[in-house]
Parts: sequence; C-alpha cells; structure tokens
Amino acid sequence: MESRVWGCVLFLFLAVFLCVSPAAAEGEVEKVLTLDHSNFSEVVSKHDFIVVEFYAPWCGHCKSLAPEYEKAASILSSNEPPIVLAKIDANDESNRELATEFQIQGFPTIKILRNGGKSIQEYKGPRDADGIVGYLKKQVGPASTEIKSVEDAGSLIDDNTIFIVGVFPEFSGEEFENFTALAEKLRSDYAFGHTLSSKFIPRGEAVSKPTLRLLKPFDELVVDFQDFQVDAMEKFIEESTVPIVTLWASDPSGHTYVSKFFNGGNDKAMLFVNLSTEHDAFQSIYKDVAASYKGKGISFLLGDIDAGQGALEYFGLKVEQAPLLIIQKDNGQKYLNPNIKPGQIGSWVKDYANGLVKPFIKSQPIPEVNDEPVKVAVTASLEDMVFNSGKNVLLEFYAPWCGHCQKLAPILEEVAISFEKDPDILIAKLDATANDVPKDTFDIRGFPTMYFRSATGNLLQYDGDRTKEDITEFIQKNRDKPADLTSPESQTTKSESVKEASTKDEL
Ligand SMILES: *[C@@H]1O[C@H](CO)[C@@H](O)[C@H](O)[C@H]1NC(C)=O
Ligand SMILES: *[C@@H]1O[C@H](CO)[C@@H](O)[C@H](O)[C@H]1NC(C)=O
Ligand SMILES: *[C@@H]1O[C@H](CO)[C@@H](O)[C@H](O)[C@H]1NC(C)=O
Repeated sequence: MESRVWGCVLFLFLAVFLCVSPAAAEGEVEKVLTLDHSNFSEVVSKHDFIVVEFYAPWCGHCKSLAPEYEKAASILSSNEPPIVLAKIDANDESNRELATEFQIQGFPTIKILRNGGKSIQEYKGPRDADGIVGYLKKQVGPASTEIKSVEDAGSLIDDNTIFIVGVFPEFSGEEFENFTALAEKLRSDYAFGHTLSSKFIPRGEAVSKPTLRLLKPFDELVVDFQDFQVDAMEKFIEESTVPIVTLWASDPSGHTYVSKFFNGGNDKAMLFVNLSTEHDAFQSIYKDVAASYKGKGISFLLGDIDAGQGALEYFGLKVEQAPLLIIQKDNGQKYLNPNIKPGQIGSWVKDYANGLVKPFIKSQPIPEVNDEPVKVAVTASLEDMVFNSGKNVLLEFYAPWCGHCQKLAPILEEVAISFEKDPDILIAKLDATANDVPKDTFDIRGFPTMYFRSATGNLLQYDGDRTKEDITEFIQKNRDKPADLTSPESQTTKSESVKEASTKDEL
C-alpha cells in the first residue's frame, strides 16, 4: 500500500515509470477480456459499463493485481447486471496510441468506461478481489443513494471516509439536477447520498433550503455549501477534502490524502519528524501555520520519518536532519530547513512565502577519485567540469535502473577511451536520480539523455544512434577546434556562457 502511494508520487516528480521486474503468469480460462487496438473501440462501444486495465508486462504492481483482477472478473461476471473487466497491454507499440488517448501515465491504470465509452472515469478503489467487487458494484448502481432514515445513513456513512449528501425539499428542480450531475461526475472519487431531511444525517445543523453537506473524518468534520453551480460544487469539494495538515504515518487509512496532497497543484510543505516522540511538540504549531496559509497556495503535510523514509531518500536527505521541513515548488525547486525547532516554523514559512529562502540543490558529493574513462559528474561539479572547463563535453544523464543506459555504458566507455589522448574532449555521466539537473539548461524526458556542450558553449542534445561510430562522428563534427578558442569572437561567447552558468548556480 505504502509503496503504491510512493510509487505514484515519484512518478509525478520524475515522469518515469516506476514499476519494475519481469515474469508472467497465465490463467486457464480468463474471465478478463484481452483487448488491443484492433478491437478496443468495437468492444467498448458495445458495453454500457466496462472496466479496462492498462498494464505493462514488466510492471510489478500489475502482476500482483492480475490474480485479484481475474478473481473479481469471475465474481462480477455473475453479478446482476454482469460487469465486464478487460485489460490492454499499453506497453505494446500498437496500443500506444490508445494509451496516449486515455492519458495513461503509470501502470496499472484502471478506467471505468460508461455509455459505450462516452464517459470515462478513473478507478479509485482497492486492488484486492473483494475490494474491486465491492467498489464496482457501487459504480454500476445509481451515483447517489437516497437516505430515508437514520438507519440508512448509519449503514452508508462511516466515520473514516468522506461522504457527500444533498439535502433537498423535493427531488426535483435545478439544484437537484445539478447535484445528480455532480454525483455522476465524481462517483468514482466519493460516495454520494441525497435526502429530504437533514435530521437523518449524523452531523451538521438542520437546514431547510437545498444544501450540499460534506462529512469528513478530519478538521471541521462537516461543511455545508449552498451554491449549486456544478463547477462551484466541484471546487468546494476539491478544497474541503484536503486536510489542513495531511498526516503521513504508517497507518494506511491516511494514504488517500497523501496521494491527494502530492497530486495537488500547490507548493508542498512537508515536515518530517519522529511522530512517536515529537508529535505533540510540532502538531499544534504546525497546524496553526498551515491554517494561516489556507487558500494561499501552500499545502502542508506532517510525515513520520519512518513512513516517509522513501521521501527523504528521494530528496537525498538523511534521517539525522529531522525534524526537517521541506517545501517543494511546482517547478520542482526545493527549500530546506533541517533540524528545525517548532518555534521556527512560522517565520521560515513566512520567509519562504516572501521569496527570502534560497533553494536547495541536490547533489552527490564530488568524487575524490575520478579516473575511469567516462568521468563522473555531479551537480556540484557541473560548473567546473562542463560549463567552465573550456572542453568539449559529452554528458550522459542516466538512471541506475535504466536498461538502455546499461547498454550504452560500454559504448560510451569505448568512445571515451578513443578520445583519452585528446585533452579538449571530455566524456562524462551524471546520475540524474541522485542529482538535481538544471531544468532551464537540460531537458531530460527519459534516460539516457545525452547533451554535448562545445568548448565555446554551444549546447546540443544528442539524438543520433547509440553507437560508437555515430557518437564519435557527432563529437568530431560539433567540437570546437583549439584554434576556434582563441578567436576574439568565441572568447566573448565563452565568457558570456560562463556568466550565464554562474547566474544559474544562484537560482
Ligand atoms: C482482440 O484482439 C486480440 C488480437 O487479435 C485478441 O487476442 C483478443 O482476444 C481480442 N479480444 C476480443 C474481446 O475480441
Ligand atoms: C446548475 O448548473 C448550471 C451549470 O453549472 C448553472 O448554470 C446553474 O446556475 C445551476 N443551477 C443552480 C440552481 O445553481
Ligand atoms: C523514533 O522514536 C522511537 C522512540 O524513541 C525510536 O524507537 C525510533 O527508533 C525513532 N525512529 C527513528 C527513525 O529514529
């Protein structure tokens, strides 16, 4: 569960598929329909309700889902009405277009297609067979359930989840229609009910005019809203379902909110402490600060260092730096205050909001020994090795887990060896998962990505074949000859680019 949440988060930050590990298991008679580009539309158009899993054969989470999904398909095939579960290999070249059309960004992604595919929703339910069955049964029924008594409310509403109720004097009129449209739209995210009397609902004041009442397990516990424009209600729900402080502990019940926190558009403040010892010292102060920034573009999370260790690793930080406050901006920039005391939180966040805090840039340490043919670059040495070295540099951005990078490694090494005697050429590599890459200079969308920077500062992305011959030819073609370097014109370019690089360093 936890790794799932964190998988999504990392995916968001890195735009990289996280799932790994091979192998496959085949069932005998599959209840899950297999679709591909040739029959997807045809099959979908025939169904009023069909569930489609977009998977990749190499994705570990997909593999653990497969038997549960199959079991659910088998149970649901005898539901009344039957519910059809299907899957499509979104990694297969011929199905990629469909994956793009459905905006698949990670695996597995499950979509609920209604009305012959005209309405599409994301599946947000559990990933075990019983959970899938329960969630999907609710999805085929009406989007909102009528609450006719206190008992009805008791069986529908539990204290740990969000529930949205529409209170109406009668089940007609524009407000009711808008509410129904809203419930239809958001039904895969929240449970909805409607009632003629607010007195059946366990929380909140009595109301007589049409009211949207949201029950939640945190903060105010109940909030009302009386503007029945669909967009306004949606915005209200979006805002009211984010806790003032999202708690990230080992208890999985909060993980929906953790996902929501990371998926939100605000700047993200994350305080990591040892919750078992320091909960009290930080909680109320942090919550007060968070409350004072409500609606001002910063969301707040309080994370246990144990639960959030993956996050710390991701940021290249250590447990010893806790209590640690990190703010991550939408553009990826990070601001850091290690070993913070409760009393410093308010003023630091204020400084941040006023633009007075400098961003933190993650870098591996500069290696003491760097004598392999392909040199190791880190963010902290980019200036010296790449921007300021006066050399022609081929720089590879890689990820340790990336297969294409591993294939490229010996080729790059051969290239580096062939240039070893040439003092003007440098071949280097940078682990882009352990170093922050200056985004305004390098556009890294996948691994490996190679850039070439000529001695005079011409920056090119390499898009040729990953062969020794092509890479070598590219370097020879684009390098500056030693003679170029002394011409007055190129001198100017050089000093300009140096200036540019040092400005970058401050940003
Ligand atoms: C869709 O086409 C693929 C490839 O021909 C086939 O394996 C699959 O069974 C088809 N699915 C359905 C539901 O017809
Ligand atoms: C119902 O929703 C539509 C579209 O958002 C809006 O124009 C209309 O004013 C709403 N009706 C009421 C009574 O709020
Ligand atoms: C958090 O505090 C508890 C209690 O003192 C301790 O046992 C645990 O090791 C601490 N966790 C970390 C990651 O330091």
